[in-house]
Amino acid sequence: MTPTDHPPATAGHRAAVRKAVIPAAGMGTRFLPATKSMPKEMLPIVDKPVLQFVIEEAVASGIDDILIVTGRAKRAVENHFDFNPELEAFLASVGKPELIDQIRDIGNRARIHYIRQKLQLGLGDAIRLGRDHVGDQPFAVLLGDTIIEPPEGQKPGLRQLLDVFEERRASAVAVHRVPREWVGRYGIVDGAPVAANPNVLRLRRLVEKPPVADAPSNLAIAGRYVFTPEIFGCIDATGQGVGGEIQLTDAMDLLARQQPMYALSWQARRYDIGNRVEYAKCFVDFALRRPETAKALREHLLQALAGS
Ligand code: UTP
Repeated sequence: MTPTDHPPATAGHRAAVRKAVIPAAGMGTRFLPATKSMPKEMLPIVDKPVLQFVIEEAVASGIDDILIVTGRAKRAVENHFDFNPELEAFLASVGKPELIDQIRDIGNRARIHYIRQKLQLGLGDAIRLGRDHVGDQPFAVLLGDTIIEPPEGQKPGLRQLLDVFEERRASAVAVHRVPREWVGRYGIVDGAPVAANPNVLRLRRLVEKPPVADAPSNLAIAGRYVFTPEIFGCIDATGQGVGGEIQLTDAMDLLARQQPMYALSWQARRYDIGNRVEYAKCFVDFALRRPETAKALREHLLQALAGS
């Protein structure tokens, strides 16, 4: 540890992180008209909504309490993670009890709470709505529209980040390298590797959607975070940023100036399903891995590509 690497002194940072906030209240304008009555986080990847993949990652990482920030179409989200006695009775009557376990499973493995974001003021504002729920404890954030696939054999994405938090006792964010010309789509970080691990960077600065010429690196924020509760004060102090929104990246930049903050540069594949091409890639990749869909889809894709 270098002299500037000292952890923040806030009480409560020793406890394991048990709570996560999942924002899912965005307008999803890039996915209209599908997102007129349904959040993009409920789009299916084969037969499971994106948000369920995200919650499964959180649970597999040790989170057992989840606050979902919902927008106008909150009912679709709440119904999905709730019991559905009528559907269960129907499945029992047609002799498909194994499907009952599947539709109940995730709601049983974590306590799920909801809060409504009434005005879509930005991601920073959505996270701020978690303040009363998480209290004076560190917590995780997983973007509800982002699926993370670590390389075979690695721990779940959020778990990798929690390991950095537990070692450093300071806020941490996952980042991945993107082509230089893409930096204007992401939050970008500037930092220096710590001595013990070249994949962990002590952060100096974070900037949301910088022009290519001004970007301090090509390390893009990947949709997974662990924060000390001081992030809430930083969001309060953050005005409107890029796009007129209260940007979480701007609040993180403030936090990095007040206390140590780290980035974990990982190899995981990130699917930002708010982007139509990424959504299609995610659907195809997952369907090609599922035994019941892989063969027929592979044949179809080969035929379709041969004809194009
Ligand atoms: P995006 O930056 O993808 O914004 O949000 P968006 O508004 O949903 O999508 P477009 O650009 O209109 O197509 C990143 C994450 O933050 C959430 C979104 O639901 C998504 O999970 N979010 C964003 C909120 O919860 N509230 C907001 O005000 C903005």
